[in-house]
Amino acid sequence: MLESRDFVSDRLNRVEGSATLKYSNRAKEMKAQGENVIEFTLGEPDFPTPKNICDAAAEAMYAGETHYSAGPGLADLREAIAEKLQKDNAIDAEASSIILTPGAKQALFMLMQSTINDGDEVILFDPCWVSYDACVRMAGGIPVYVPTDPTDGFRPVNPESYITPKTKMIVFNSPCNPTGAVYDESVLREIADVAVDHNLLVLADEIYEKIIYGKKHISIGSLDGMAERTVTLNGFSKAYAMTGWRLGYMHIPEPSVFKALSKIQSHSVGNVTTFIQYGAIEALRGPQDDLAAMTKEFKERRNILIDGLNKIGFRCPMPDGAFYAFPDVSEFGNGEEVTTKLLNEAKVAVVPGFGFGKSGENYVRFSYATSVDKIREALERMEKIFWYCPEQHGITDPAKSLCGIFFIFEKRLTLLFSEKRLILLFSEKRPTLICLNLSEIRCHFFSRSYGFTEEDLKTDPDR
Ligand SMILES: Cc1ncc(COP(=O)(O)O)c(C=O)c1O
Repeated sequence: MLESRDFVSDRLNRVEGSATLKYSNRAKEMKAQGENVIEFTLGEPDFPTPKNICDAAAEAMYAGETHYSAGPGLADLREAIAEKLQKDNAIDAEASSIILTPGAKQALFMLMQSTINDGDEVILFDPCWVSYDACVRMAGGIPVYVPTDPTDGFRPVNPESYITPKTKMIVFNSPCNPTGAVYDESVLREIADVAVDHNLLVLADEIYEKIIYGKKHISIGSLDGMAERTVTLNGFSKAYAMTGWRLGYMHIPEPSVFKALSKIQSHSVGNVTTFIQYGAIEALRGPQDDLAAMTKEFKERRNILIDGLNKIGFRCPMPDGAFYAFPDVSEFGNGEEVTTKLLNEAKVAVVPGFGFGKSGENYVRFSYATSVDKIREALERMEKIFWYCPEQHGITDPAKSLCGIFFIFEKRLTLLFSEKRLILLFSEKRPTLICLNLSEIRCHFFSRSYGFTEEDLKTDPDR
């Protein structure tokens, strides 16, 4: 350990490590010690990269495409991306404005380095993906968070009021990590108007555009007045399950920014790996069946997970895109407490919401890039640990709660009444939780765990 000198740059001292990686590493350590942990931490599809894409890259490698290629990428791939942006996104893209990067993450890093001066402000929507904040700070910029309204599809609340003379860019992500929100045209128009009125750049991160359930993805760069000021960021990681390939791209219509960013590319990575670019051409121009099958599977998982989470008492609106659920867990504690409880007691690994912004304090993020069987098992484990949680049922002060012991069908049952609700029925053999709200009766049985059904309850609660 070197002494008496701080060798770490101020820029890096301003940056936090990734919360996602921290919690996924913890889960991996537990797994290495033999624990049966079910992981919902990392944002990476658990499907293999489609075979036609792997074959195209392998063929290129064997055919000798193993040398440097042009800095911004292969001409044919840039052409394929331009075609895709025109066709899918209604963006009037030119191949010459497209640059391939080692992952979309690196593209984000390079864009901030190319555009942000010390003290420039960048608008982020809270909550948002962890790396925006870090990349802004590494460039010397200041992230300015606009709150979003979870009761209104995480719509940004009054974004214009956060603009100052120092604002240079707005980062916009739809479908959104971590909320899964897919924004409709009225939200896009509001943000576009702010960008046009204040002469700002917009970074549109569209990496989840293909993982969407029923809603239509709209690119902000296709709106009136946005063609020149929108940098569109995308990549192959999510749609084609190519996370390990490290391949992203950006469409940068403003020539001065494109030129600046190309300088970084030329002095850092040079070019992205040559033969994998042939796989990317196949991904864009080849059959899209695997993508459709993957999205169908994600949709099924989403439905099972969101339904199960809401039954437990995690409040989670149905997300329209990406593969994340972002439930409000405040009934059980803050996001970090619930994350710790889930990991220690249920061996279910999630990420606490605070890593995605201040507003995420009472949330956790589930990445449902895991099988239906594992989702069901995780839900069962969670039901068991959360089946009785006094705070959830309004018992903040047990002394104020009425308590009684009753005998029904000659079985002993304990009832607790809080100020708000009738809370619990304990039976000795099978724990059963019944919550009676004034307006709603919710019966919560551990039918899967204990083979208990509604019929059982009506006839003999302890049979
Ligand atoms: C919103 C968002 N943008 C960009 C990325 C970066 O993807 P990659 O660097 O794998 O291309 C991610 C990855 O998790 C993400 O969630």
